[in-house]
Amino acid sequence: MFDVNAIRAQFPILSRTVHNNSLVYLDNGATTHKPLNVIEKEREFYLQNNANVHRGTHFLSANATAQYEAVREILADFLQVQSRELVWTKGATESLNLIAHGLTPLLQPNDIILISELEHHANIVPWQQLALRTGAVIKAIKVNRKGCIHYERAVAQIQNLKPKIVSICHASNGLGNILPIESLIREAKAIGAITVIDGAQSFAQIRPNLRELDCDFYVASAHKAFGPTGVGLLFGKYELLNEMPPYQCGGEMIDKVTISHSSFNQAPSKFEAGTPNIAGVIAFGEAIKFISSIPFEEWTAHKKDVFNTLISEMQTIEQVELYGDLNDNIGTVSFTVKNQHPIDVATLLDHHGIAVRTGHHCNQPLMDALAISGTIRASIAIYNTVEEIDHFIFALRDVISLLEE
Ligand SMILES: Cc1ncc(COP(=O)(O)O)c(C=O)c1O
Repeated sequence: MFDVNAIRAQFPILSRTVHNNSLVYLDNGATTHKPLNVIEKEREFYLQNNANVHRGTHFLSANATAQYEAVREILADFLQVQSRELVWTKGATESLNLIAHGLTPLLQPNDIILISELEHHANIVPWQQLALRTGAVIKAIKVNRKGCIHYERAVAQIQNLKPKIVSICHASNGLGNILPIESLIREAKAIGAITVIDGAQSFAQIRPNLRELDCDFYVASAHKAFGPTGVGLLFGKYELLNEMPPYQCGGEMIDKVTISHSSFNQAPSKFEAGTPNIAGVIAFGEAIKFISSIPFEEWTAHKKDVFNTLISEMQTIEQVELYGDLNDNIGTVSFTVKNQHPIDVATLLDHHGIAVRTGHHCNQPLMDALAISGTIRASIAIYNTVEEIDHFIFALRDVISLLEE
């Protein structure tokens, strides 16, 4: 039986107060909190097991290597891919930069890179740099005035533009919309495009089966999935990874080095130059175990319960305008309050102990498409409760009446 209090007990930070109020943390789209098993694993590594990986013959180094590589296996099992197709990076941003760099040799002038207006800057700017290097052109799938993409128009864009690369998010960080990536990947593959999925917001919430999705690349960040900061993942189909040039060069990624020449390891080691975040990766394994310990049906049912309460309550506040797809959503609501600046609303909410995000959420093209400067974003995680939503709604009503005085 799903017990949210038992889950909350694993997150000590949730019982702290902020400005003398109980913390209500609704900024999970930015980063989630970490359960005790993750925190303890990182501590245990430095207390008992600290050593560098892949280099030593001594006990501690072999042990660190075994633990570090075991997490690659755990992740491979979670995503249903081969462990040699998984590269450790420092976050989704680095993963996307690595892919955009690695695909440089495949692009010709005027080739099209198709993204969407929902993308995080991390899934826009690396492609712009790739376009500058190669003469390729970036096009975007458009959103409507609520921030939703029109599926048939997106398919038509793929079929008409015949992009070389299609890179889209699984779920929007700004609005929470879940995109129909299964069919968009199918359409993109039908015209021979390389498909890249930004899973930063979907990894923990949707637990994608990458073998079924059949995308060429998928990226995510551990810190948005109950793991440590400074750890990211990159899935790439093995043949594509091995065709790509290395991203960073140095120790670990080489096969043989002379003064004038080097040959490189196979993937994934070819993309893991230097000493990685060993403790972070090992602790991330515990985050995946935490996610997997809650049956997916219970996870989604609880989140739906909390999210539906949030949406139905917000719809009763007449000054509030909601954005995004409220049906197919990972549990994020983005809104504005009539005649009020988002920062004023969020600052006063903070005095109630409520953590929300304001601004453009690294989604400036999306904000331009919606013709607004920013929103207030409340994003829920598995440990949030209906009672916290009640508190948030009470505080929001209070803040709005204060601002209207
Ligand atoms: C959809 C999406 N993509 C990419 C990123 C970048 O992630 P990171 O800052 O962990 O590299 C984020 C972070 O907010 C995101 O939400």
